[in-house]
Amino acid sequence: MEPYRIKVVEPIPITTREYRERRYAEGGYNQFNLTADDITIDLLSDSGTGALSAEQQAAGMRGDETYAGARSWARFREVAAELTGYDHIFPVHQGRAAERILFTALLKPGQISLSNTHFDTTRANVELVGGIWRDIPCAEAEDLDSDEPFKGNIDLVALEAALAGPDDIGLVLMTITNNGGGGQPVAMSNIKKASKLCRKHGVPFILDAARFAENAWLVTQREEKYRGHSPRDVVKKAFRLADGCVASLKKDGIVHIGGLLGLNDPELARRCELLLMATEGFRTYGGLSGRDLDMCAQGMLEVTDPLYLRERADATAHLAECARKAGVDSVQPTGVHAVYLNAGRLLPHIPPHQFPGHSLASELYLAGGIRCAELGSLYLGEITDDGELITPAPYELVRLAIPRRVYTRSHLEYVAETLAGIAENPEQVPGYRLTEAPAMLRPFRCRLEKI
Ligand code: F0G
Repeated sequence: MEPYRIKVVEPIPITTREYRERRYAEGGYNQFNLTADDITIDLLSDSGTGALSAEQQAAGMRGDETYAGARSWARFREVAAELTGYDHIFPVHQGRAAERILFTALLKPGQISLSNTHFDTTRANVELVGGIWRDIPCAEAEDLDSDEPFKGNIDLVALEAALAGPDDIGLVLMTITNNGGGGQPVAMSNIKKASKLCRKHGVPFILDAARFAENAWLVTQREEKYRGHSPRDVVKKAFRLADGCVASLKKDGIVHIGGLLGLNDPELARRCELLLMATEGFRTYGGLSGRDLDMCAQGMLEVTDPLYLRERADATAHLAECARKAGVDSVQPTGVHAVYLNAGRLLPHIPPHQFPGHSLASELYLAGGIRCAELGSLYLGEITDDGELITPAPYELVRLAIPRRVYTRSHLEYVAETLAGIAENPEQVPGYRLTEAPAMLRPFRCRLEKI
């Protein structure tokens, strides 16, 4: 059960199918055009959508808004330094700000960033400084159904070959957990070996640690050597294997806004500090208010609570299991922050160019007011300006991201029931065609129509 009770509640909109049909059509069948009043259960993102604890709110009240050298900064730095062990701690307003600052200071044009999987903004930030991103996930990640425990791992053979080869590798970025790769965890042994290879070749090894606590939880459950260890202990060890981190605290900081850049190299830290001060804010607040810094600090303490992590992982697994019983498969084994539904398998009558992932996501909205994200050919495929799919994505998935401490099991069961209703007659779900397909940031700006 949830190791907390609810003190503040917020009504959620309960709407009719008729209303949802109208609103969705008005928004060009793009879920990014829906507004809060249209949505009953919002599983679009687990980022910045969590519920604050009473202690976080109290910490916010103690926030010190001194311009430079605020007490809130001292508290933020103390918690972040104790957790990560890095000598240089910079607050930023969210993860992508840390990415931009680090890559600007570290990557030279033409240099390569290697990763188990770069997140979208991470890719964009590599490209914006003239770098080249390359994903080298482990081979096990290809099989969505297998029970391999650490499908988030980096391919160590490919990593070693790249580091020893002629290419100019600027950094290696390990994303924990691997959000772009089905929310799968990375094993400590994989982090350790990748770290050793990077040290041998003198290449900076950085963690994208947005979900540091959830990765550590799965390590304590799935990696023999760490069974019985506390998640916090595993988090600390993971950070200490790297030369630094970029982290969106909107996930495992359980805050609405906030991020962290941590580094050991004093020269690199000096360059980052300059960029931070020019673009985000002074080095002791980096674009955050004092109360944000205090709530981040408290969130970083709370998130490694094993009772909290166990319940969150169990709730996500429960949703995946209900979906499976209803005949809807998801990427296995289930991670913590999201369930990735296999829409391609559920809707074989919808070809990739009619976007089965988008079709399932649309039906979840129309049938139940549930919003989620397509991760298939609409998002990842190659599409012409006329909306024609040239190269489909390897899989047609739908991500149900679970906000932290927000929805109860009965909310998740409502999601599962809605899914079960769709799975009873999947052949009735229609495909979609693009009517507007802008090349840049397509998922956010495109419009579609039902076929
Ligand atoms: N890295 C990973 C692995 C992420 O999942 C995200 C954000 C970021 C970096 C960027 O952080 O949003 O604070 O700037 N992921 C969100 C999501 C948006 O829904 O998965 P940010």
